[in-house]
Amino acid sequence: MRVLGIETSCDETGIAIYDSENGLLGHALHSQVAMHAEYGGVVPELASRDHVQKTLPLIRQVLDETGLKSDDIDGVAYTAGPGLVGALMVGAGIGRSLAYAWDVPAVAVHHMEGHLLAPMLEDEPPEFPFVALLVSGGHTQLVKVGSIGQYELLGESLDDAAGEAFDKTAKLLGLGYPGGPALARMAEQGNPDRFRFPRPMTDRPGLDFSFSGLKTFALNTMHAEYLDDQTRADIALAFEVAVVETLAIKCKRALKQTGLSRLIIAGGVSANQRLRTRLAEVCEKENASVYYPRLQFCTDNGAMIAFAGCQRLMVGERQGLDFSTRARWPMEELAAV
Ligand code: KG4
Ligand code: ZN
Repeated sequence: MRVLGIETSCDETGIAIYDSENGLLGHALHSQVAMHAEYGGVVPELASRDHVQKTLPLIRQVLDETGLKSDDIDGVAYTAGPGLVGALMVGAGIGRSLAYAWDVPAVAVHHMEGHLLAPMLEDEPPEFPFVALLVSGGHTQLVKVGSIGQYELLGESLDDAAGEAFDKTAKLLGLGYPGGPALARMAEQGNPDRFRFPRPMTDRPGLDFSFSGLKTFALNTMHAEYLDDQTRADIALAFEVAVVETLAIKCKRALKQTGLSRLIIAGGVSANQRLRTRLAEVCEKENASVYYPRLQFCTDNGAMIAFAGCQRLMVGERQGLDFSTRARWPMEELAAV
């Protein structure tokens, strides 16, 4: 089955075609980062308008690049949530309409399920069951995954998501949007012995997270110091290390608690090199294996939506013409495949 995937939940238009027999056939991405950078964050109305302009041309581009025609597409998958409703409605409206016009089924995909399944696009995909650490701009969750659609939430952030904490702290440090990659680059110049930030909620049992205090800790440190470039880099590093160590401690705990020996990491923050290296070390010590998506599929993309949608279309899941989008959508509501 060949599925066209459409992702428009936030600030990237992602299009891909996934084939259940031959894997990923093609994909393209248009990032709105440059447009939103001027405002220091995503402006929802501008995001929607840009998706309107980019989605169809990008679909044409992927069809051209793969040498496929609309007749070759057996189903359409679009992100229906969670995300910015206006932005979601663009992809959902276009996706549902194309499926109707082409007389093929459509399916609504959960954005975080897309992230969670992204490591399956790699050459050595993880087998079920596994623990998933989902770390994006909007979510930080530890999930026990039995199979596709069988998700048990083990813990999540009680306030800011990890990516959001990166973005907000980066802003305090005078870095542009999106802050995660910029902060990570600045941290490379940091002195690891200068500051030690707390590891929130690691001194009590449980798998929930809280990252908003780290941003305040960074702000207080900035107020207490003379802020030259070196000090800012030292703060960036102390913040990054604190987030990474906190995530590592909780991942180790989740593996122990579930007795599982596979960990997958996905979502924008899984592109962070320090996090990838640290979790590889943790898993080696725990005799567990760790799986990541390739870097370009850590952040938002159409490939993960085409893949997740294909799995659901293949078991007969269908979205009627009465489609809707959801700003919030607990992943546990999804049906097992
Ligand atoms: O998954 P994603 O593309 O969008 C959402 O679904 O939210 O994640 C975006 C988030 C942003 O907060 C961004 O700052 C963060 O991922 N991010 C990073 C890195 N690359 C992206 N955070 C830390 N280090 C990175 N290298
Ligand atoms: Zn995302």
